[in-house]
Amino acid sequence: MTCKIDYVAPADLLQDRVILVTGAGDGIGRTAALTFARHGATVILLGRTIAKLEAVYDEIEAEGLPQPAIFPLNFEGATLKDFHDMAETLDKEFGRLDGILHNAGLLGRITPFEQYNPELWEQVMQVNINGPIWMTQALLPLLQASPDASVIFTSSSVGRRGRAYWGAYSVSKFATEGFVEVLADEVEHLGTLRVNTLNPGGTRTAMRKAAYPAEDPMALRTPEDIMPTYLWLMGPDSRGHNGEKFDAQPPKG
Ligand SMILES: NC(=O)c1ccc[n+]([C@@H]2O[C@H](COP(=O)([O-])OP(=O)(O)OC[C@H]3O[C@@H](n4cnc5c(N)ncnc54)[C@H](OP(=O)(O)O)[C@@H]3O)[C@@H](O)[C@H]2O)c1
Repeated sequence: MTCKIDYVAPADLLQDRVILVTGAGDGIGRTAALTFARHGATVILLGRTIAKLEAVYDEIEAEGLPQPAIFPLNFEGATLKDFHDMAETLDKEFGRLDGILHNAGLLGRITPFEQYNPELWEQVMQVNINGPIWMTQALLPLLQASPDASVIFTSSSVGRRGRAYWGAYSVSKFATEGFVEVLADEVEHLGTLRVNTLNPGGTRTAMRKAAYPAEDPMALRTPEDIMPTYLWLMGPDSRGHNGEKFDAQPPKG
């Protein structure tokens, strides 16, 4: 596993690239959308809370960055038709897609498996893996229309080694790791599309607070701190890396 925390991205790294960020209204996704835009990308802000997406949109506009687009979508209720309609809209608007950051995620509950609510389990699997994979299927033609496209799926340490009580969240991240191995192998021959996983590591966000309420948030890295690996993996410097697992923070030790 590789970490690129020391990577220094050129200002124009993502110039003229069209990049979709899911869960772009808050936490890591919000910071990634702003960071990609600050490096020249036209970002498509996808999420379930329109007011949050609008706030990110306004921030990007206020900085005079490439005009973003908003795509409201809740993975919980989203259907295949929604994903295909989305692909059609993006095709008309942009004609291609140079990157996707699959970042939206749901923690569910940290609880013994014997007490896990099956409906909540389904909900977590829908948001963390089922929705994102069917969205990716619908967007594949647009990714293939790009000369250099990068798809990043967000993983977690509990998606690489199981941990008691992490239930559906952990299982969904293992599924993410597995799916990326399958898809990366399928697209390898194209040479223009790479698919990798990225584990942000403990980061100061609302999700982390919900998972570790007693932890001091000031002891954690911020979403801004972990952006070097996000930029490296989204931009052309990661060409040739496909089906790999990355970490946005060095291992503690
Ligand atoms: N923070 C960490 O320490 C950490 C560690 C390992 C992995 N991760 C992973 O990193 C990613 C980002 O996490 P975060 O810490 O930034 O979490 P966060 O602050 O809770 O943000 C999650 C984002 O996902 C969106 N989202 C949730 N459910 C959705 C749905 N049904 N449809 C569409 N969007 C939805 C949220 O939208 P709303 O704002 O509208 O709720 C929010 O924008 C997740 O995949 C998470 O599993 C985080």
